[in-house]
Parts: sequence; C-alpha cells; structure tokens
Amino acid sequence: MSPRLSSVRDAYGPWAVVTGASDGIGRAFAQELAAAGVHLVLVARREAQLDTVAADLRTRFGVQCRVIATDLADPLASSHMLDRTTDLDIGLLVAAAGFGSSGPLLSQLDTSEQEQVAVNCAAVLAQCMHFGRRFAARGSGGVILLSSVVAFHGTPWSANYAATKAYVQSLAEALRHEWAPRGLQVLACAPGPVGSGFGARAQLRLGRTISPTVVAQQALRALPRGGTVRPGWLSKLLGWSLATAPRALRVRIMGSIMHGMAAQPAGPTRPALHGRAV
Ligand SMILES: NC(=O)c1ccc[n+]([C@@H]2O[C@H](COP(=O)([O-])OP(=O)(O)OC[C@H]3O[C@@H](n4cnc5c(N)ncnc54)[C@H](OP(=O)(O)O)[C@@H]3O)[C@@H](O)[C@H]2O)c1
Repeated sequence: MSPRLSSVRDAYGPWAVVTGASDGIGRAFAQELAAAGVHLVLVARREAQLDTVAADLRTRFGVQCRVIATDLADPLASSHMLDRTTDLDIGLLVAAAGFGSSGPLLSQLDTSEQEQVAVNCAAVLAQCMHFGRRFAARGSGGVILLSSVVAFHGTPWSANYAATKAYVQSLAEALRHEWAPRGLQVLACAPGPVGSGFGARAQLRLGRTISPTVVAQQALRALPRGGTVRPGWLSKLLGWSLATAPRALRVRIMGSIMHGMAAQPAGPTRPALHGRAV
C-alpha cells in the first residue's frame, strides 16, 4: 500500500464493496483497501475463490470480510446482493466485475454478448443507484467504475464489449457532476491491457500488460479528484495521440489494434445460416 492510500478509510468510512473481487483488478482493489484497514464486501460468482481471498485478507490485515457469491448477470441475484449489504456502513463502491469478447460480433454467442450488457452495464447501474442513494444520505462516498481504453470510440472486433464500456465511461462522467454537490466522488478507471483473467476469457492476446495492483493504486489515488484515470502506457498514449483525430479515423485505428490482439480475428467457426457462412 502506498502511504497516501492510508487515508482511504478516513475519507470513505469503514466498509467498501468490491465486485469482481475473486480475481484480477477487483482482487487487487480488495488487497489495497484491506491494507488501508477497510472492511470488505467481496462479490463474484466463484465462492471458493472469494473465501480464499477473504481468509487471506483477514489474516494479513485483520479486516472483516463478507463474501457474497452471486451471478451479476441475473438482475434478481444482483438486487439480492445489494440487500445483503444494508446493515453495513459502506462508503465506497468499486464495480470491477466484468468481461469482454473479441472477434466479429456475428461469430459470438448471442447469450454471452447479452450477458456482457447485463454484467458490465445493467448491474453497474443497479449498484450506482443503490449506493448513490445510500452515500447521498450519509453525505459522503466514493464510486469507482471500470471503464477501458476501448470506451472512447467504437472498436471493431470488440464492438459490443467496447459499447458496454462506453456506457460505463459516460455514466461515470455524468454522475461525477450530478453527485459532487452531495459530497460524492466518482471515478472512471480506463486501463489499457492488464495482466488478469480478462484476456483469456475475451480470447485476446494482450501483449505487454500492467499489473492489477498498479491499476488499483492509481485509481484509489485519483478518486478524490474524480474524473477519469488511464492506467498503463497504451491507454495514455492512445488518449493523447487520438485526442484530435476525427472520430471515424479513431474507430479505424482502434479496429486495427483490436484485430491484432484478437486470438481469433476471424472469429470462432459457426454453422452456416441460410446457406451463408457467418
Ligand atoms: N484486464 C484488462 O486488460 C482490462 C482492461 C480494461 C478494463 N478492464 C475491466 O476491468 C474489470 C475487471 O477485469 P479483470 O481484468 O480483473 O478481469 P478478470 O481477472 O477476468 O476478473 C473479472 C472479475 O469479474 C467477475 N465476474 C465476471 N462475470 C461475473 C458475473 N456474471 N457475476 C459476478 N462476477 C463476475 C469475476 O469473478 P467470477 O468469475 O468468480 O464470477 C472476476 O472476479 C472488467 O470490468 C474489465 O472490463 C480490464
């Protein structure tokens, strides 16, 4: 933990919720927050993995952990998860649960793409509304939403995933302004490639990555000022270099970057539809 992160508990209170805490970036946030003495609600689907994270944090940092194993693609389960936090003085939400895909949209499974919208967008909205109201009532709070380097332009070969992250980026930017007078801080965290389970699930070859710990530390440091933080060299480079490019050109550049990263740029093979290959 960096010395400046030690004040997180003073700023946001004794408890935080971290979704996606079983792995990758969410787990790194949980570790940084536990090191700052913050008690944690850990959310993801894999209960055994969450129990292991919780046991480690209790032993190393002496914090309390509540494990909630739930599938955030299910709106009922998502709302049940929120109900199971109402007895705790929570002042910080880190919405890190999410996943992506790569390759041509028409080669993806419809159910998986719809699940991305449910987890990356609908569940994040439900969490923001629930905790936004609670934080507004207590007069302080922080919200970190996981956006992405692909959130700022249409991104061919990861079209739906990039669109879900554009939703998250836009939501965070707007809520930052809406909620500032209520004493709440909102941050969009838009990393480039990160070494986590994300690449394998999205079938992406991510090349040079940064560590989830770097993402968590930079985001927690940036939260008091809110806005957008772009951890990683690729995210920063693309932010600067594409800032003045026409939008259509940005989309083409993002498409060629994503095409190079997609493990199966032509997409997984699927049965022909009405005699035409898809
Ligand atoms: N890694 C990158 O290069 C990168 C770059 C930019 C943005 N991001 C964003 O960062 C966030 C975290 O990704 P990551 O890199 O940490 O990936 P990761 O290592 O695959 O972790 C994803 C986390 O989300 C949870 N999750 C996935 N589907 C879920 C569901 N239906 N219900 C509940 N939890 C679910 C996973 O837990 P379970 O499997 O146990 O459910 C896991 O804890 C994502 O929103 C991603 O879009 C990642």
